[in-house]
Amino acid sequence: MIVRHSRGEYPIDFRSVQSIWAGLKPLDPIVTDQNVARHYAEALSSFERVFVLPAGERTKNLTQFGRILGWLAGVGAKRSTRVVALGGGVIGDLVGFAAASYMRGVPFLQIPTTLLAMVDSSVGGKVGIDLPAGKNLAGAFHAPSEVWIAPDFLNTLPARQHRNGAAEVWKAGYIHRPELLDALRKNPVRPRHPDLRWIIEASVDMKRQVVEADEFETNGLRATLNFGHTVGHAIERQLSYRRLLHGEAIAVGMVCEAKIGERLGVTPAGTADQIAADMAQQGLPTEIPLGLDRRELVTTMAGDKKATDSGLALSLLTGWGTCKLITGIDPAEVVSILISE
Ligand SMILES: NC(=O)c1ccc[n+]([C@@H]2O[C@H](COP(=O)([O-])OP(=O)(O)OC[C@H]3O[C@@H](n4cnc5c(N)ncnc54)[C@H](O)[C@@H]3O)[C@@H](O)[C@H]2O)c1
Ligand SMILES: [Zn+2]
Repeated sequence: MIVRHSRGEYPIDFRSVQSIWAGLKPLDPIVTDQNVARHYAEALSSFERVFVLPAGERTKNLTQFGRILGWLAGVGAKRSTRVVALGGGVIGDLVGFAAASYMRGVPFLQIPTTLLAMVDSSVGGKVGIDLPAGKNLAGAFHAPSEVWIAPDFLNTLPARQHRNGAAEVWKAGYIHRPELLDALRKNPVRPRHPDLRWIIEASVDMKRQVVEADEFETNGLRATLNFGHTVGHAIERQLSYRRLLHGEAIAVGMVCEAKIGERLGVTPAGTADQIAADMAQQGLPTEIPLGLDRRELVTTMAGDKKATDSGLALSLLTGWGTCKLITGIDPAEVVSILISE
């Protein structure tokens, strides 16, 4: 699969874990996290330049960004040196941003090792870090030079992280790829799923198509990827990014946004109930966590970067596998919909 963008193109290759190690050179600078380093210690021991960072979202910060730049300079990385990001979305975003900045931009190879990173964060060229003031507040568009996906990496991924990525796969189905829904309803995402490669390919291909058509978020198509995310992000923020993983928050967000769509007459009746059944089958939550104030959620949604003075902007389903960005939605109406459920 090839992804085309304004500055060129990059291939997304499906490989075995073995062929990933075989494809790397002994001196390639590899940045990874502690969990990945522990699971793949033996393979990594044959590489000389491996930089291991703490695991988790808190690593995606300015300090670690600076450490990577310092390390690249220390190992003598040149403008043509290819930096390898081996890990989940945290490593991909952070190392991608370091690669965008080091010597004003060096190539980087994305090797996603979580389902979320395979189907979402490794494709599209958005890289960045969190600031104390908020998530993903500093970043760049810096496309990878290549993405290598080995679904076998998921054999070591904890089950909850699997479900986390599964939410994005379902989302891909809901917004643009109905064939994924048929497959997932028969057989939800799980480790060693017989169709895992096809599921990943279909999800990635959906994202490829969208980012090719709207690379810099200018025509509304890329914003459709946000289905479930406007409510989901608000939930994550209200919970201070604790308790729920991103995929869990957007599972709830997709159910809520389908309800909103139904009440606005955009989404066919019964959609929200079916999505709730899908999420439950996948082991994902479907309800706004107890104790969260719906009014405050909507206030947070109104602060979303896609909202305008005329109201909220939501990517809403118009059927299975089709969606539309709807703008100018009255926040008061959304409050009443969320309260009445
Ligand atoms: N750039 C984008 O377009 C984009 C899109 C979506 C999400 N993101 C970003 O992605 C990040 C979330 O990514 P994530 O969910 O992959 O989180 P993550 O990178 O923190 O990985 C989740 C956990 O799985 C562990 N792990 C990774 N691979 C493993 C493996 N093969 N076996 C065992 N454990 C493994 C990690 O150490 C971590 O503990 C967020 O920071 C989010 O902002 C970016
Ligand atoms: Zn997401």
